[in-house]
Amino acid sequence: MSSPIDNRPVILTGDRTTGPLHLGHYVGSLKNRVALQQSHRQFLLLADMQALTDNARDPDRIRRNVLEVAFDYLAVGIDPLATTICVQSALPALAELTVLYLNFVTVGRLERNPTIKTEIQLRGFERDIPAGFLCYPVAQAADITAFKATIVPVGEDQAPLIEQTNEIVRRLNRQVGRDVLPEAEAMIPTVGRLPGVDGKAKMSKSQGNAIPLSASPDDIRQAVRVMYTDPDHLRAADPGKVEGNVVFTYLDAFAEDKDFVEDLKAHYRRGGLGDMVVKRHLEDSLQALLAPIRERRARYAADPGYVLDVLRQGTATAKERTEATFAELRAALGLFTFT
Ligand code: TRP
Repeated sequence: MSSPIDNRPVILTGDRTTGPLHLGHYVGSLKNRVALQQSHRQFLLLADMQALTDNARDPDRIRRNVLEVAFDYLAVGIDPLATTICVQSALPALAELTVLYLNFVTVGRLERNPTIKTEIQLRGFERDIPAGFLCYPVAQAADITAFKATIVPVGEDQAPLIEQTNEIVRRLNRQVGRDVLPEAEAMIPTVGRLPGVDGKAKMSKSQGNAIPLSASPDDIRQAVRVMYTDPDHLRAADPGKVEGNVVFTYLDAFAEDKDFVEDLKAHYRRGGLGDMVVKRHLEDSLQALLAPIRERRARYAADPGYVLDVLRQGTATAKERTEATFAELRAALGLFTFT
């Protein structure tokens, strides 16, 4: 894949390894990563260090999920020959860059970061904010710049982190008097966030409203059975609402035949179409989408040695690249390098 001169734009993105990935990740990011992996030089970071910033009491879970997320990547079609998959905690240059960058950010700026403010509230940290958590945007700036990524596909909630990254980049570049680091651009998905099966705004494992990529045929059937529809649509004969009806939101996201979905919507609005029938169509689409993913995932899970090799090789490639960036910065700042 890598030719002597690789002019492809560089992508870095990743996931905290807090749990296996679900359909929301598939729609919002995984699908996009598979689509971009040939036209871009793509790095995927298994962000176990960042996961520890709010899970320091549970390192076992974070470690276990490094492999679970790697299974998910491979199962959806991330090709390790095209995309470099690497483990954050095994890349010391990321920690070194973080410490350097901390000098180019103020505590006040960190406290005002909108992403962090919301997340502190969600986690109920209030006064007892782990310092590592407050500073994770700086670590994320280290991740992005260490790879010299110019494109960072992330959810809308993460956009302030890219802004903060670029502030650090501009300060460092000003400090050394030339553009050692490139600025990065957030690539926000154009499709809306997939709601949970209960109709809540976000699909999330901790809310218990997610369909994991490893869901069994029975899990899928059950998730669709309890899925939120139009609470006022009591009889099939009545007209029903499509807006806010999760079954239709999912059909829009997953059904192959868009014309067929439009016909279903029209029929539902008119009345005469029961929830059960619509749900059966959705279940068929989801079973068809997830069956091959589940089978591939099971094959990787049965061969963790192979997957560990993928991570070992990807991490070695990433180590070289990130250490080169840190060496370049050290030289630019006039710090020592012993050879
Ligand atoms: N913050 C991202 C998340 O919560 C994970 C992540 C870590 C990341 N480092 C990154 C994303 C660098 C993009 C670029 O999922």
